[in-house]
Amino acid sequence: MKYRIGLLITCLLLCVGLGLSLSKPGKSGERTTGASEEGKVLIGFSMDEIRGPRWHKDQSALIARAEELGAEVSIQVANSNDAKQIQDIQSLITQGVDVLVIIPHDGAAMAKGVELAAEAGIPTISYDRLITGTDKLDLYVTFDNVKVGRLQAAYLVEALKNVPNPKIVRLLGSKSDNNAFLFKKGQDEILMPLVEAGKLEIIHEDWCENWEGRNAKMIVNAAITKHGKEFHGILASADVLANGASKALEEEGLSGRILLTGQDADLVACQRIVQGTQNQTVYKPIPELAKMAAEMAYNLATAKPIVVPESIDNNMAEIPMGMADIVSVTAENMMETVVADGFHSQEEIYKVTAN
Ligand code: GAL
Repeated sequence: MKYRIGLLITCLLLCVGLGLSLSKPGKSGERTTGASEEGKVLIGFSMDEIRGPRWHKDQSALIARAEELGAEVSIQVANSNDAKQIQDIQSLITQGVDVLVIIPHDGAAMAKGVELAAEAGIPTISYDRLITGTDKLDLYVTFDNVKVGRLQAAYLVEALKNVPNPKIVRLLGSKSDNNAFLFKKGQDEILMPLVEAGKLEIIHEDWCENWEGRNAKMIVNAAITKHGKEFHGILASADVLANGASKALEEEGLSGRILLTGQDADLVACQRIVQGTQNQTVYKPIPELAKMAAEMAYNLATAKPIVVPESIDNNMAEIPMGMADIVSVTAENMMETVVADGFHSQEEIYKVTAN
């Protein structure tokens, strides 16, 4: 039977009354209904970067659903540069987008982009990563990021349960990304009681600027230089970081001998998992999140009510939030999760040699 992760998002008209209406009379006052009666809705999509393979999936799934709805999408990619991302947003505003979906490089810096859009009467959705410090943000759609961290740490703890006083290295995400702190929060919930009880040691940890694999590799190199090869696991917060970690392990002849986690079910990570050089990842059903974002963007642009069941504090306001569920993936459940969902094919995962 096909495995499907149900979105926890309950949206729109089905659950009116359970959440917050996002129709904002003040905004529609500036732009009437956002999109003209006959005109196509134009969704602006401002992306941080598309180095990581997951972001290509986000992009194509969002475009596909928007086109099904009769909308168009205009895309800008900031290449991890905050000044460029603000320019991108200004350019999308000038193009006359009806709604903006933003994946921020820096969640705090992009508050300015949200404020610029609000001044132009354009509603905004923060996608995957939270934009903090503004009360003008209309909506946040994401996965359960704290749970991602819990699943990564729980995997390592369980896999190391027969090792006395195991030692691990931790690769944290980019400090500019609020998600990196949520992943750490979930990891800490599982790890810190063990660390405090003297039952597990984090021998080395560091943040990986811009989520770059080469930074992850340098951190693992530094850990090995400082502490030697006698450790048991690397808690990589995402597969893009596991890429760098696995290169460092390979160079040291440690491939397959040190446990390695990840996130995103990137193809190369799934290949490593079935080959035994990575042990776990977290599968996030990206097409479903992107589809939901496109639908919500369309509804915001056409002033239809949107209702979501949760909200999150972004240090300035409670932002309505739609959240999707995730699952921990190892070699054991690869077939019934990633493959069954069509995220990657069995052939791609099992027949191609990982880099
Ligand atoms: C996070 C995202 C992860 C991962 C990472 C690096 O914000 O939630 O799925 O892709 O960025 O790009």
